[in-house]
Amino acid sequence: MNEEQRRAHSKVNTSKKEEKDYSKYFDNVYQPPNLKDAKVRGKSDVVHSDFNIDEKFKGMGKGRKFYIKTYGCQMNIHDTEIMAGIFTALDYAHTTDVNDADVILLNTCAIRENAENKVFGEIGNLKHLKLERPDVLIGVCGCMAQEESVVNKILESYQNVDMIFGTHNIHRLPNILDEAYMSNAKVIEVWSKEGDVIENLPKVRDGATKAWVNIIYGCDKFCTYCIVPFTRGKERSRMPEEILSEVKELAANGYQEICLLGQNVNAYGKDLDIDYDLGDLMRDISKIDIPRVRFTTSHPWDFSDSLIDALAEGENMMPHIHLPVQSGNDQVLKIMGRKYTRESYLELVKKIRERMPDVALTTDIIVGYPNETEEQFLDTISLYEEVGFEHAYTYIYSPREGTPAAKMKDNVSDEVKRDRLQRLNRVVTHNTAHALSKFVGETVEVLCEGTSKKRDDIYAGYTDKQKLVNFTAPDDSVIGKIVKVKINHARNYSLDGEFIEVVNKNKVEI
Ligand code: SAH
Ligand code: SF4
Ligand code: F3S
Repeated sequence: MNEEQRRAHSKVNTSKKEEKDYSKYFDNVYQPPNLKDAKVRGKSDVVHSDFNIDEKFKGMGKGRKFYIKTYGCQMNIHDTEIMAGIFTALDYAHTTDVNDADVILLNTCAIRENAENKVFGEIGNLKHLKLERPDVLIGVCGCMAQEESVVNKILESYQNVDMIFGTHNIHRLPNILDEAYMSNAKVIEVWSKEGDVIENLPKVRDGATKAWVNIIYGCDKFCTYCIVPFTRGKERSRMPEEILSEVKELAANGYQEICLLGQNVNAYGKDLDIDYDLGDLMRDISKIDIPRVRFTTSHPWDFSDSLIDALAEGENMMPHIHLPVQSGNDQVLKIMGRKYTRESYLELVKKIRERMPDVALTTDIIVGYPNETEEQFLDTISLYEEVGFEHAYTYIYSPREGTPAAKMKDNVSDEVKRDRLQRLNRVVTHNTAHALSKFVGETVEVLCEGTSKKRDDIYAGYTDKQKLVNFTAPDDSVIGKIVKVKINHARNYSLDGEFIEVVNKNKVEI
């Protein structure tokens, strides 16, 4: 189906007079998202194209305001910045007050059931607003929009939603808004395809200090529990020159830190017809005059020696690696489809530490995987201690429809799962506090992002190892700068200190 046909097929007339069964539209009018299609990884070349706004849409937002609520990971946070950029290019104004908005978007996350429940709660909350102001447009986008069951549920139970569009359709926002204004039917545009790479997307970035930079979209790993490969399409890298020119522009505009984004950044370049991988990209970025470079997330499977060398050698490469391990037990790792063992993970950690002795390692862990035994869980605890992780994001396994793990029988009760999470979290909290306590009396470099959440005479930012520091300083001229801070006190999750002096590593005048 070409783009015009897709557009024609994307409208569903769901006025209240209709029957509740919408499946009849799926055959001849509208193609629902389809997890099976989304799993296909064909050989077809990924289309790289440039975004531009059609003349006829210009000025569409004059006198109108947009509001976006974001759920989920950094990728969604950055997608929201892109949608804000598109709205701004259409002359919409931004509002942080949902009651003041003419267009409301919920940029959703599908990673766990509780993430989805939050979104359904919010759509429900917006029902009264739509009754009071029927002209308001309400849209659901992001990863949940790629799921057929979610789209069906919205069609059946949430008449207040006007637009549903997927993660591959963000660049189509002007067309989707136009269709929603022109008709009183719901506009649904979700492509269950492998995905394109769209360049030249406008962005309104949140802050002028740190910036997200997409390097690779999608994921081909298909870990057996995970919905992301279905919601984000196949792995597809941006061309190096596009990434490098974005980073150069950010550096020229005074940004102090970039974080390179991908569900699995280590797969960068594999899909391109050039001999260029993440190590090469990191080496090229280390030559750019931007003081701090981070990346997230990397799969232990393709963490190459060339990447380790680039991280160890690049002066602006930060000594922190987030390396999700998920479990410390070989059998569980195998069923998860992670394609590494406890031993090979430890081997990788050793190799990284040989080249970067001072590196801080953090991780993600899932407990209560189907049929996980007590011994298997204890292997995760022992691996945590053995590696000496400085922090972890920990989760109870949540079955995701359409994934292989969701079909597995599970003999672990919810109570046992919750108990394992609590026991793991005690270890995590203890080790996080211990890692922080080592900084007391030291002087560290902090990129000051602004004032602390609680007090506006206290400043806050992160160290090179991604530790949160709250500190006193004579005035707000520290904001946006890398400063030396003497650490006086360690808390469970943050450090307290006092400003010493500014370190300006950026050669560009700011
Ligand atoms: N691409 C990243 C992970 C992105 S999702 C990686 O592989 O490292 C972030 C984290 O959510 C995962 O690392 C995993 O710990 C957790 N997660 C993913 N699917 C989950 C599920 N079905 N239930 C519970 N946690 C899950
Ligand atoms: Fe999900 Fe695994 Fe891909 Fe990470 S690597 S996004 S956990 S499938
Ligand atoms: Fe959630 Fe999608 Fe990110 S499922 S974690 S928003 S890639």
